[in-house]
Amino acid sequence: MTRILMVCLGNICRSPLAHGIMESKLPSDRFYVDSAGTANYHIGSPPDKRSVSVAKKYGIDISMQRGRQFKHSDFEDFDIIFTMDSSNYVNVVRIARTQTEAGKVKMLLEETDLGVAEVPDPYYGNDSGFEDVYHLLDKACTQIAKRLL
Ligand code: 4NP
Repeated sequence: MTRILMVCLGNICRSPLAHGIMESKLPSDRFYVDSAGTANYHIGSPPDKRSVSVAKKYGIDISMQRGRQFKHSDFEDFDIIFTMDSSNYVNVVRIARTQTEAGKVKMLLEETDLGVAEVPDPYYGNDSGFEDVYHLLDKACTQIAKRLL
């Protein structure tokens, strides 16, 4: 079983989408996917309505997800930790205690050839930001899933 964790700041906009999209591309008997936020603002909250809605539009149900904060034991519980942006990357690597733990952390888009470094935070924007993030994550997860399979 390969365990993949998607990480953003709030765990209500980007990482729940990345979680749902990646899960839809990988067989559940070989892959476990989860998501978390570096901040504690939205612990226990469902994803942002705009993320739920754009995912639903493309056939993915993320409504049952609940926000949680990244914790040190995630380094033991996951094989690959993908962060959405460089700030999330720095905040997760800062919690690592060993090189092995730090080495599990990757910037999601840097594992693709999309030529974009970060998944932009759509929280303060409008619906089109969520649509753009969805497509960016869908392309990234397609490439990464193909390599993992
Ligand atoms: P996310 O977006 O990191 O993609 O979940 C955000 C959600 C909430 C906040 C910031 C970013 N916030 O400040 O509450």
